[in-house]
Order: sequence, then C-alpha cells, then structure tokens
Amino acid sequence: MTNKTFYITTPIYYTSGRLHIGNAYTTTICDVIARYKKIRGYDVYFLTGTDEHGEKVQLKAEAAGKTPQQFVDDLVVSIKELWKKLDIDYDGFIRTTNPSHVAAVQKEFSQFVANDDVYKGEYEGWYCTDCEAYWTESQLQEGHLCPDCGRPVHRTTSESYFFRMSKYVDWLTKYYDEHPGFIEPISRRNEIVNNFIKPGLGDLSVSRTTFDWGVPIVEDPKHVIYVWIDALSNYITALGYNSNDDSLFQKYWHNDENHEILHVVGKEIIRFHMIYWPIMLHALGLEQPTKLYAHGWIVMKNGKMSKSKGNVIYPEPIIERYGVDTLRYYLTCCIPWGQDGLFTPELFVENVNVDLVNNYGNLLSRSVSMVQKYFDGIVPNYEGEATPFDHDLEIALENAKKHYEDKLDSYQVDAGFKEAFDLLSKANKYIDDTQPWTLAKDPAKQKELASVMNHLMLILRAGTIMLKPILVNTYPKVLAQLGLQDIQYETILDKHAMDGSRVTKGDNIFPRLNAVEEIEYLSKSFKF
Ligand code: MSP
Repeated sequence: MTNKTFYITTPIYYTSGRLHIGNAYTTTICDVIARYKKIRGYDVYFLTGTDEHGEKVQLKAEAAGKTPQQFVDDLVVSIKELWKKLDIDYDGFIRTTNPSHVAAVQKEFSQFVANDDVYKGEYEGWYCTDCEAYWTESQLQEGHLCPDCGRPVHRTTSESYFFRMSKYVDWLTKYYDEHPGFIEPISRRNEIVNNFIKPGLGDLSVSRTTFDWGVPIVEDPKHVIYVWIDALSNYITALGYNSNDDSLFQKYWHNDENHEILHVVGKEIIRFHMIYWPIMLHALGLEQPTKLYAHGWIVMKNGKMSKSKGNVIYPEPIIERYGVDTLRYYLTCCIPWGQDGLFTPELFVENVNVDLVNNYGNLLSRSVSMVQKYFDGIVPNYEGEATPFDHDLEIALENAKKHYEDKLDSYQVDAGFKEAFDLLSKANKYIDDTQPWTLAKDPAKQKELASVMNHLMLILRAGTIMLKPILVNTYPKVLAQLGLQDIQYETILDKHAMDGSRVTKGDNIFPRLNAVEEIEYLSKSFKF
C-alpha cells in the first residue's frame, strides 16, 4: 500500500423517495473509480450517505403517517439494500441525522457566526418549497416560477441568518482561475460563472423558521440550518471533523500531490458544490477538494425521468434479469462521461451484446476451449513473437494499458474502460487473423499455435484486471477459468504471467441477449 490517499464522495441522497437508475449512476461510477484507485494501490476512502433534513421530508413523512425520523430510517434501509444489490463497496455511510453530524454542523455554524461570516437579518423574497430556496424577482422564470424546478414560488418575509458569500467572491473567482482543473467539465464552470457569479453573488439565506425538521442553531433554536449548509458539511463531518475523533479527517482531507479529494456530483447540483462549498471551506480555514466532477443525466426519449411522465427506470428489474455486472457495465461505459446519455432498450441490448457478450465472453470461451483442445488445458509458455500478428497484439496491450490509465486517472470512465473492450476486440480479430484451427493441422506450426494461445491468455488476463472495477462478480469466475488466484495490476505486461496455467471451461459469462425479446421485455417493464 502506498501512502497516496484518495477520498471520493457521492452526493448524499435525499430521503424523500425511492432511488432510481440516475441515482444509481452517480454511486456506481464512484464505486468503479474507487475500485480502480484501489487496484492502483491507493489508500481509498469512499463515502456515500443520505441527506435527510428539510421541509420536503417533513411533509412526506406527515403524508405517510410517520415521524420524520421513522420515515428516513425506513428509506435508509432501502437505500442500503440497493447499494448492496449494486455491489457498492463504500467505506463510510453518513446520515445527516447522525447526532455526531448534527453536533459538528452546529459547531461549524457557531464558528461562522463568531467570525462574522454569518449574520442575522430579514429576508423578503420568493420561496420555492420544493427546492427550499429563496429567489429574487429577477431570478424567477416568467409566471413567478422557480428557476430550478419550474414550480410556483410564494412571497415570504422572515427573519433569517445570512452567509456573507459576497465577502468571498473575489477569492473564489481567483481560485477558479488559479486551479483550472478544479471543476470539470469546463463548460459547467463557465455556465455557473455566467449565471450566478457574474450577475453578482448575493449573501445567502442560511436558516429557516417555517419548519423544524433540520439542525437547530444552538444559540437561536427556532431557526434550523439551511439544508445545503447541513448537507455539504457531510463531506467533512463523515471524517470526524469537529468531533472527538478526527483521525480520518486528518488522514484524508488533504489536497496535494499525494492526497486527492474528488467530489462527483450531477450537473444540477454543481452550483452548490462550486460556489457555497468552497466558500464554506475557505471560511473555516480548510483545504479545498482537488476536483469537482459534474456528470450528466440519464435521459429518456421523452426527456428527463420524472414520476409525472411515468418514465422512471429503477435498477432492480435490470439487475434481476441481466445481473449486477451488466448494469454496472451499462452505467459506467454507455453514458458519455460529463454529458447526458440516452437510455433506450435498443442501445442497452446492443452494447451488452457487443462488449460483454462478443468482445469478452466469446473471447474467453473460444480461447479456453482451444487451449483445452490443442494443449490439454495447459497454457504453453511465452517464447517471444512467433506469428506476424503477435507483435501488433503486444503493442496493442502496451497502448491499451497506457490509455486506460491516462483516461481513468482523469476520471473519463467510459473512455477508460473502452480501452479494455477495444483490446479484447483486437484479440478476437487476432484469432481470425492467425486461424489457430489451421495452424493445428500442421505439425510444423506448433510453435505458432502455442504462441497464439499464450497471447490470447495474456490479453484475457490483462482485460480481466482492467475490467475488475466494474465486473466484480464476473472477476472470480474468469479467474477460475483462467486458472489464476488473483491478478496484480502492475504485472499486466508480464509476458510469462500465463505460462503453465491450467484453464477450465466454465459457464458462458455473458450469454447473448436476444434483441427482439429483450427489447420487448425492457419496453414492457418500463412502459417506453
Ligand atoms: N441531496 C442532494 C445532494 C446533496 S450533496 C451535499 C441531491 N440529492 S438527489 O438524491 O436528488 O440526487 C443525488 C444524485 O443523483 C445527483 O448527483 C443527481 O445528479 C443524480 N441524479 C438524479 N437524477 C439523475 C438522472 N436522471 N441521471 C443521472 N443522475 C441523476 O441532489
């Protein structure tokens, strides 16, 4: 284990309803990145959790005839079950109702007040209950609608605490300029700067008196702390910041060449992470995260998923029918990183059949069968390049490794794993080019045949470790077929790694999907 640390976080999920495939997307890519960093030897801490306060939760709980605490407790159980089904291997799960989080946020708020970052004032403006946000007249959409969610807002006047965001705006813009990689993709950063910073960043109302399901301000308990201040703080309170044991915070909250902090968030919440969060951290005298990465949405043919449109997709039926690895593959590899990705049954079936079934599953079963048939199941030793195609395949492996690392180190997950699938696809072509069944007929071509088998096994071994962060259940099954105990990533180019291995034919790891049947199944299950 190196001394390099990597702290990765998902946003914390609202406990106001069942999670869907869009939420599963955020968590899965974080899990995949965390697992990638682990195989590269980093000391990783992966955090997820739940954002449990706010008026919306209070109202939903009332409607369900439960106390807010009971309501969120029940949802947290179902959220954790979903992460288990998706094989999400998190290290920490933070709930904003944890007493330790509540106490830490209260302490933080008192510190803001003591430093005059937060002051008490009077708020008059337009309030959106759904987004729990105040807006000025000029920010509203035509017809007095919330600029975020499009729902009607109402006029309110109330006592409120305010955060002096304006005090830090010059520092913030300078920080963006000096850290060009702080927010990616860069287009999101420009969007926020143009829409929220250039028009003038006003002070932010950071308390509410209209409901009580939140963290009370200790000195003035009729106020609860604005849910985004409470929620954003999870990234440090989960590590023990402001508590008796802050050892995780001391270990992971650093941003330098050996310590990285990555927040992955959806594009609609980058604003909070890009403006309020850095300012809060700066005001507390803490380091900034290394990077904020905003991903796009999974969208349907008729637009964003929403209950009213009836086009919401849930992960469970997909996992039940196709297995968890298939869904993890789809989420990681088929949504263009940073952009919106369209979910259609056709694309789902086509991608699975090309990458998992053809490029990976078929290559494995063809190659294992041939080693059994031609060499009694024992992989022949590597003895240099023997066929005219060997050299190209070896170069392809070196390049794939390099590009895989470059892309995944910059978190372009879909492009990174594509390197692995392209490599496997090249190995399939290598079989067509070398025609082992013809070589097998000629005793003078034994050496070439042995070389083909060895090269195929080396590529399968490399592809298998490269895909391990996604295909967590398939990995041990492939190891068993290849006759391996485990694969160390650093040995991916070791040419003798498969010498003498005993292969065993197993079940087809990814059976072909019948396009007509599966498109019909998916269309029916999700009423496309
Ligand atoms: N509670 C806030 C985050 C606070 S973080 C300090 C929140 N929660 S959420 O449950 O609404 O969303 C969590 C994540 O799910 C976000 O990253 C969001 O982008 C993601 N998704 C919700 N719908 C999505 C899609 N349709 N597609 C992809 N991701 C989507 O926001």
